[in-house]
Amino acid sequence: MKAGFFQFPPVFGDVAGNVEKVGRALTAKQVDLLVLPELFNTGYQFVSKDEVTRLSEEVPFGFTTQKLIEMSKEKNVHIVAGLAERQGDFFFNSAVLTGPEGFVGVYRKTHLFFEENLWFSPGDSGFRVWDTPAGRIGIMICFDWFFPESARTLALQGADIIAHPSNLVLPYCPDSMPTRCLENRVFAVTADRTGKEQRGGKESLEFIGTSEIVSPSGKVLFRAGRQTEELGIVEIDVTEARNKELNRFNSLFRDRRKDFYRS
Ligand code: ACM
Repeated sequence: MKAGFFQFPPVFGDVAGNVEKVGRALTAKQVDLLVLPELFNTGYQFVSKDEVTRLSEEVPFGFTTQKLIEMSKEKNVHIVAGLAERQGDFFFNSAVLTGPEGFVGVYRKTHLFFEENLWFSPGDSGFRVWDTPAGRIGIMICFDWFFPESARTLALQGADIIAHPSNLVLPYCPDSMPTRCLENRVFAVTADRTGKEQRGGKESLEFIGTSEIVSPSGKVLFRAGRQTEELGIVEIDVTEARNKELNRFNSLFRDRRKDFYRS
C-alpha cells in the first residue's frame, strides 16, 4: 500500500481554502492512506475562545469532515486529518479518520501542548486503532509523541501504522520517531506543517516541517524539507509491523515484564 502525508502552511481561519488546497494536492496522485497536519483546516494559534467556537466543527457532520469523506470516496483513500472539534460546550484538538466507506472514527488529543490548554479540553477518547483496508491505523497527535506510552498503547492495540498529525515547534520529534517505531515495530507517518504564525500579540511560532515516514526497523523512508510544501508518498508493506519477533529468543510484547513497570 501507499502511505503519505501532505505538508503545507495552512492559512489561519481560511477553512475552505485549506481544505481545497488538500483536494488540489490529491488530484494527480494515488495514495491509500494520507495523513494531514494537526489543525490543518483552521491553523494553530488561536487567540480567543470566540475564535475556537467559530472555527471548530462537529464531527462527523461538520463541513471539514464531510469534505474529507467526499475526497476519500472520490480518490479511494483513507485520510487522517487534524481539526478543532466542538461537542456542545466542549472543544477538542482532534483528528478524524475517513475512508471510501465514509466516516471511520475520531481521536481527541490526549496530551495538550502549551496554550492549547487555554482552548481545548484534554482528550477523552483514549488511544484507538481502526482495522481498515489500508491497514490497522492508530492515531496520536503531535505532542503525544513525547509520552512513549502513546505509541506503546497503539502498538499493543495492534496498530500497523501510527498516523501522527502534527504542528511541531520543538526540534526533537523527527529524530525521535525512529526510536518510537523501532521499540514498537510499527510504521509512523508524521504529517507536520510549515510556516509561521504570530497572532494577537502572542509569541511567534515557527513550525519545523520535516514530516516523515518511518519503518518498523526505525528507518526514515522519506523526510520532507523544513519549509517545503510536499506530498510525500512511500510504498510500504503493513505486514512488516505484525512481526514482533526480534530474534530466536526475544519477542517484543511477550518479553515485557509488566510486573516491574509499576511506579
Ligand atoms: C504540538 O503538540 N502541537 C507541539
